[in-house]
Amino acid sequence: MDNKLNKLKNILLMGPGPSCVSTSVYDALSKPTLGHLDSDFISIMDEIKYFLQKMLQTSNQLTIPISGTGSAGMEACFVNLIEKGDNVLILINGIFGKRMEDIAYRLGANVDTINFKWGTPILTDIVKKKLIQKKYDLVAVVHAETSTGVCNPIEKLGKLVKNNGSLFLVDCVTSLGGINIQMDEWGIDAIYSGSQKCLSCPPGLAPISFSRKAIEKLKRRNTKVPNWYLDLSMLINYWSGEDRVYHHTAPINMLYGLYQACYNILEEGLENVVNRHMKMHKLLVSELQDFGLELLVEKNFRLPMLNAIKIPEGISDIKIRNILIKEYNIEIGGGLGPLSNKIWRIGLMGETAKKENIQKLIDAFKKILQ
Ligand SMILES: Cc1ncc(COP(=O)(O)O)c(C=O)c1O
Repeated sequence: MDNKLNKLKNILLMGPGPSCVSTSVYDALSKPTLGHLDSDFISIMDEIKYFLQKMLQTSNQLTIPISGTGSAGMEACFVNLIEKGDNVLILINGIFGKRMEDIAYRLGANVDTINFKWGTPILTDIVKKKLIQKKYDLVAVVHAETSTGVCNPIEKLGKLVKNNGSLFLVDCVTSLGGINIQMDEWGIDAIYSGSQKCLSCPPGLAPISFSRKAIEKLKRRNTKVPNWYLDLSMLINYWSGEDRVYHHTAPINMLYGLYQACYNILEEGLENVVNRHMKMHKLLVSELQDFGLELLVEKNFRLPMLNAIKIPEGISDIKIRNILIKEYNIEIGGGLGPLSNKIWRIGLMGETAKKENIQKLIDAFKKILQ
């Protein structure tokens, strides 16, 4: 019988995610599957929680991976923290902020939004004015907007949100393991991420963390969490305490993968990993600029792990990406929404953020574009 898996090529993943996966993570994924209440597995679960706390720089007890991709993490935060009629403010400058708005709206919240031009950051002065006018139950924003390559000013926003008394929810799907995140210091009450970006694990898990204030809100709810699978008041009984209670069958081997991915980052040192991302970003930018290509985002607001490059006039986005993947086995991303056909998104996430990968891409670009 023909087995399609034997024909898979090794693609250099330089798009907006998934990123390259290391051999150690692939090895971890193939370790023996254990029962989801096995004591060895439970000790791995405990260590994953500890690893995530370290990377998010938080002491939050409720720090666990949700079984599902980054969007499940997003949904978990909203369904647990919002009740019908809550006042919610979403700060939007890309596709993932828009997705937050959609989820909050579906949950029956009174949703206000402030929209900023895609490719520019959230402006704190404008947010400040809005927060003076109205009290919110929750304010949500994306840290690293993968659709545009913009880094939003989370620390500054955290202070403003704290003065308003609302909960502060942050998407760190693309930022975790690539840039500094100080969850406690910055006053973040709830955060979610995804395994397939700077953590360099395959997609399928969404680390989340809730502060004490967020847990209080969960306990004070007048109504049940409207989603059974993502109800943290039940999930917490599987992820903590002496008597673990079955909730759903955890994706055991995926959790081995996440364990190894976090282990790799902490062994290299979080600060070193963050510095490596910045160093590789600078290298990529200087190579691209030498070649006459320009970046979409102003220097001070650029993400190191997601570089939005303006597609030169007269060049076909899809044609170039097709050549890259078919002839060079390199994947990069295209633009989304208003940036479709206007930018390429080059990811330098986790394992991908290495000099040799940048060189391969630049060499290919030179051959194709010249
Ligand atoms: C910033 C951000 N938030 C949320 C998501 C959704 O994650 P997933 O595609 O893993 O569901 C992504 C995915 O690219 C993202 O980049």
